[in-house]
Amino acid sequence: MLKAHLAEPFKIKMVEPLKIISKKQREKAIKRAGYNPFLLKSNEVYIDLLTDSGTGAMSDNQWAGLMLGDESYAGSKNYYHLKKSVEDIFGYKYVIPTHQGRGAEQILFPQLIKKGQFVLGNMHFDTTKAHIELAGGVAKNFIIKEAFDTQIPHPFKGNFDVDEMENFIKKEGADSIAFILITITCNSAGGQPVSMENIKEVHSCAKRYGIKVFFDSARYAENAYFIKKREEKYKDIDIPDIIKEMFSYGEGTTVSAKKDALVNMGGLLCFKNDEELFRKCQAMCVVMEGFPTYGGLAGRDMEALARGLKEGIEEDYLKYRIEQVGYLGETLSKEGVPVQLPIGGHAVFVDAAKMLPHIPSSQFSAHALANELYIQSGIRAVEIGSLLLGRDPQTNKQQKSPMELLRLTIPRRVYTYNHMDFIIEALIKINKNAKNIKGVKFTYEPKILRHFTARFELVK
Ligand code: F0G
Repeated sequence: MLKAHLAEPFKIKMVEPLKIISKKQREKAIKRAGYNPFLLKSNEVYIDLLTDSGTGAMSDNQWAGLMLGDESYAGSKNYYHLKKSVEDIFGYKYVIPTHQGRGAEQILFPQLIKKGQFVLGNMHFDTTKAHIELAGGVAKNFIIKEAFDTQIPHPFKGNFDVDEMENFIKKEGADSIAFILITITCNSAGGQPVSMENIKEVHSCAKRYGIKVFFDSARYAENAYFIKKREEKYKDIDIPDIIKEMFSYGEGTTVSAKKDALVNMGGLLCFKNDEELFRKCQAMCVVMEGFPTYGGLAGRDMEALARGLKEGIEEDYLKYRIEQVGYLGETLSKEGVPVQLPIGGHAVFVDAAKMLPHIPSSQFSAHALANELYIQSGIRAVEIGSLLLGRDPQTNKQQKSPMELLRLTIPRRVYTYNHMDFIIEALIKINKNAKNIKGVKFTYEPKILRHFTARFELVK
């Protein structure tokens, strides 16, 4: 039977050959890597689903833009192209380029946070949380509880529980809140969108207490597409108008441009109209990233970004993108592999706690599944669970994550539906044999951001 899905809305002009090494070689490679897929070499990987960050394919239009790079230290024309794209898309006047999303976080957060203040979010991403803490703040999550049950199909699992957040503000006092950060889409909850209604509620709640709202918008275009598809009122509104409305409810945004803006490197820090804050951040940009009209990027990179921002909001591209990820997730779900439902924007999150109930969270079931997936099929994926969460900084005890997820992250415009079918077949096979998979334990555990470089052995 023919598959009922959209063909890729592009043709392929250049290819990178992929090779799959033998199972024996994979077993050797993962052992050498200390059973940590982060430590594999990429040429040992067949399909790389570690991240959608900086792994997308640029278009001919973007590559052509590289030739127009104006490598001036100050006032490069490419900066002004970039500024124009941001103004047109986000409706924000002030733009600072940065080398990537966390570059924007490290500039902005110290300007907003006084020691001990809270930063309220739906669910903060890990580097974002780390930068909040480095700036002396305390990161707090207020995501709706449906997000923690992978089998409840709520359309907007990235939403805030606004009542719970408001109670917290009342209890702690508005002065103890540095700002509210809305992550669109919510990566850590499964690439789950936030509805326009919820964004508006967060904005009105913030307004009642005089608190500023910012966005963490790595995947804002995917969020807008979900609003169009899942929020009745927006079904006939164009994506650019949805994006403008979303950003009208915030004062500014940090952007990792390595996702929806379709570049391999780059970030942004933008403000609607707060000139004073913009000036302060510009000064810090000089110290941390570079002169404020290049912020750690070459002129050619800014040109590719100015163009990528426009391509990333095209509706036929977004439809293909979301449907491809949806095809992978929904087929897995139909075949009995438990995944976060509904399927999110950039990745399918396999519920490893459900698939491997015999492995306790202390033996990191999703990480064990990542190793098994690599050994059986050469696919590299990443754990989002107790291993990522780490130890309690006070007691040093391993914390238990509310979910043990394996993220199958899909790079943009890189893999085809045939690759999706290969991934599906691999996981169906592994699911049938799930009870034989063993947990892992540390042989080396670094103190900070341990999941990147830790080493493991299999539990006997
Ligand atoms: N915010 C979110 C929601 C992210 O997903 C990321 C990165 C960042 C901020 C930081 O941006 O990497 O450009 O410095 N996420 C990547 C991932 C690394 O794999 O999910 P960055």
